[in-house]
Amino acid sequence: MNIAILGTGSVGQTLAEKFISQGHTVIIGTRNVEDTLAKTGPTSFSEWQSKNTAAHLKTFNEATKEAEIIVNALNGNATLTVFQALDAANLEKKIVIDLSNPLDFSKGFPPSLLEGLNNTNSLGEAIQQIHPLAHVVKTLNTMWCGFMLAPNLIQGGSHINFLCGNDQKSKETVAQLLITFGWTNETLLDLGDITNARGTEGYLLLWTRIYAATKNGAFNLQLVK
Ligand SMILES: NC(=O)c1ccc[n+]([C@@H]2O[C@H](COP(=O)([O-])OP(=O)(O)OC[C@H]3O[C@@H](n4cnc5c(N)ncnc54)[C@H](OP(=O)(O)O)[C@@H]3O)[C@@H](O)[C@H]2O)c1
Repeated sequence: MNIAILGTGSVGQTLAEKFISQGHTVIIGTRNVEDTLAKTGPTSFSEWQSKNTAAHLKTFNEATKEAEIIVNALNGNATLTVFQALDAANLEKKIVIDLSNPLDFSKGFPPSLLEGLNNTNSLGEAIQQIHPLAHVVKTLNTMWCGFMLAPNLIQGGSHINFLCGNDQKSKETVAQLLITFGWTNETLLDLGDITNARGTEGYLLLWTRIYAATKNGAFNLQLVK
């Protein structure tokens, strides 16, 4: 499949490596290709790409053109601005896997949720509203990125990943993709439509506090009944 990943950060890179290893074509989206490649240093995108030469880098809009699936791995603050600028035609009838979180670090740590994107709204819903013909599926945003693609790293993989979105078929397609990462029908929990992103994004208020208290982000949720 042709997969566009919007986001050059550690999450975008981690996902790109996985998709490439599975034989997918990956195009990563950025604001300005030359600027991004000009940055150097051990954690720079260019350093990462020198070891992952199969990943193509294009502008956000160019990246989405040929994509069959689009992954939103953008900073939460930037997500809506970027999506507002994307050509609607590039997203029509396409799955958008949204794993961003609307975190506001302007007052330090722990973050709050961005104004207007909490409680009665969410980033997932806002993306869906900007692109009504896209099929937004919110998932993977409730855990450290190391677990997204390798749930088996803890508890034999028996911890929870939520999904929500308005289109059932798209959720099933995303679930099949997640199963190739090690998630199972038992560990994937479909919460319903995209308004449920309020719950999974809101969980970050607790996630960040557990992280602060335990000094360890390598944890996830199990449902115990
Ligand atoms: N880290 C984790 O384990 C984890 C787990 C779950 C969910 N998430 C979520 O995953 C997302 C990505 O996280 P990350 O740490 O990989 O990356 P990040 O640093 O949060 O975001 C990097 C991306 O955001 C873009 N960006 C930043 N400011 C922008 C602006 N003003 N206008 C347009 N684009 C802008 C950058 O564009 P350029 O390429 O042009 O620089 C870059 O592509 C976040 O929403 C985060 O909450 C992270």
